[in-house]
Amino acid sequence: MKNLLKLSDLSKEEIIGILDLADDLKEKRKQGIEHKYLAGKKLGMIFSKSSTRTRVSFEVGMYELGGTALFLSSNDIQLGRGEPICDTARVLSRYLDGIMIRTFAQSDVEDLAKFGSIPIINGLTDYCHPCQVLADLQTIREMKGSFEGKKLCFVGDGNNMANSLIVGCLKVGMSVSIACPDKYKPDAEIMAWAEKTGRFECITDVVEAAKGADVVYTDVWASMGQESEKAQREKDFAGYQVNDEVMAVTNEGCMVLHCLPAHREEEITAKVFEEHANEIFEEAENRLHAQKAVMVKVML
Ligand code: CP
Ligand code: NVA
Repeated sequence: MKNLLKLSDLSKEEIIGILDLADDLKEKRKQGIEHKYLAGKKLGMIFSKSSTRTRVSFEVGMYELGGTALFLSSNDIQLGRGEPICDTARVLSRYLDGIMIRTFAQSDVEDLAKFGSIPIINGLTDYCHPCQVLADLQTIREMKGSFEGKKLCFVGDGNNMANSLIVGCLKVGMSVSIACPDKYKPDAEIMAWAEKTGRFECITDVVEAAKGADVVYTDVWASMGQESEKAQREKDFAGYQVNDEVMAVTNEGCMVLHCLPAHREEEITAKVFEEHANEIFEEAENRLHAQKAVMVKVML
């Protein structure tokens, strides 16, 4: 595996390989067993958007693997003043062993990989969030034991999270339902691919979509970069909330996941959030393990 640009680039076997390594690294960390597989390696972390989990888990993860991570806010590097991606890629490739980038356009991540000569990891774009979904899959397998026959229902905006969840969950053998308003459907190409699996539906009715779910997932109504649409989105997404009524139609022991940050009483009630806090924060912890696995796979 050379890069992690989007989950659709990976085979089922590659995804499972990352999850197996993530479990192993999680256990090694718990037991205090040294795992400095990336000793001496340097990761650049370009951020054009805010972050708590992605920044801290990559930085700590790189440290634990024996390497070092550099935080590069796009406001502070010349990229933010218009230096092209193709030049940034060629320069950074001469200093670093890998780059993690969080930005707006997926094409910027793809261009970084095209013009650079070092591994590139997508730390979120408007199109997808593959690192988050690898951690989500690790959490689901850890808590449910397997993927086969399990159903994930995503409630809310057909955004970067929805796009990556559709690809990741379907690839490992789960079924996926999306409940979203017509105006906010996931990416058309991803949906066309998903429909061919026969294990996918995208509907507007939240309760219908949640029936028989083993995992319910939600995300904010307005993502980073959509702040000006917040008021309109609050109207459009009213009713697209994970609450007791939705949870009532799910399978017994249904998990609730949220990539975080969460907006209580918007996409999820405080009650449901707190009842499933153990799952949600295990999911957040698993960002560390899953990303360490990704870094080892692409940088070793
Ligand atoms: N879930 C996630 O990516 O969180 P951050 O925005 O805090 O990195
Ligand atoms: N959809 C959210 C995810 C944050 C992790 C966003 O892009 O802001």
